[in-house]
Amino acid sequence: MATERGELFSEERSAEVVAASFAEAPDPRLREVLGSLVRHLHAFVKDVSLTEEEWSAAIAFLTATGHKCDDVRQEFVLLSDVLGVSMLVETINHRAGGVGTESTVLGPFHVVESPPRPLGANIALSGEGSPCLVTGRVVDPSGSPIGGATVDVWQADADGFYDVQRPDSVPPANLRGLFTTAPDGTFWFRTIVPRHYPIPDDGPVGELLAATGRHPNRPAHIHFLVQATGHAPVTTHVFAADSPYLDSDAVFGVKPSLVRDFSVVEDPERAASLGLPDRFRTVDFEIVLLPSP
Ligand SMILES: [Fe+2]
Repeated sequence: MATERGELFSEERSAEVVAASFAEAPDPRLREVLGSLVRHLHAFVKDVSLTEEEWSAAIAFLTATGHKCDDVRQEFVLLSDVLGVSMLVETINHRAGGVGTESTVLGPFHVVESPPRPLGANIALSGEGSPCLVTGRVVDPSGSPIGGATVDVWQADADGFYDVQRPDSVPPANLRGLFTTAPDGTFWFRTIVPRHYPIPDDGPVGELLAATGRHPNRPAHIHFLVQATGHAPVTTHVFAADSPYLDSDAVFGVKPSLVRDFSVVEDPERAASLGLPDRFRTVDFEIVLLPSP
């Protein structure tokens, strides 16, 4: 029911009265978003009969979340992640229509430009790990290859850390690379099998997880950001099928279409030709890009 001009605040009509206060906003989208936010927020407060102590605790939590942020730590993104909002925004803005490769969260570790590397390069610049060959192809929905596509990859190491989390012990751009597909759409590189890892849980978001009995872990994955002229870019991961936490990713990033076997290869000749030790793992990931909207 529309509000009458000058209607005063009441418990019953709080949402309508406050939403109406934005009715003159010149930007129609701003008016729509704020109006909906107010209606949902008021409905939430009424639904749980929020106490004053709880509202104070919420303000203190958001304040602490802001204080935890700096140049390399974004606690609000983590909060959005563990509430599933990052994944929801990503998903509704990049619907794949059952044809294109599905997207998932960018995550907080794409913080440096990946260095361009030739196809076949080994991105594991240091450290332990199980050697792994990654192969794939970038194609359009009809299966035609897309040559010249850029394939930006980054991943955690065998201990579950990204290079930027341990700058004193690994070289910069360890386990990162920017590849360009061959004319037949193929790409390949050498790396190690990534490990599952916890999102940073030493801040307010970690306290929220602990208070609710949730773990902070993400299943093992390699990040991909694939772009080609005339096509919509895709931000995604390939997940290792044998990783723990596939069914309970702390940020809800897993989609079944993105899970692949990292199978074991024991073939000394092939290993030698690839410059890998005899026993290695391998994963193949075909990426389908939709045309630009
Ligand atoms: Fe990640």
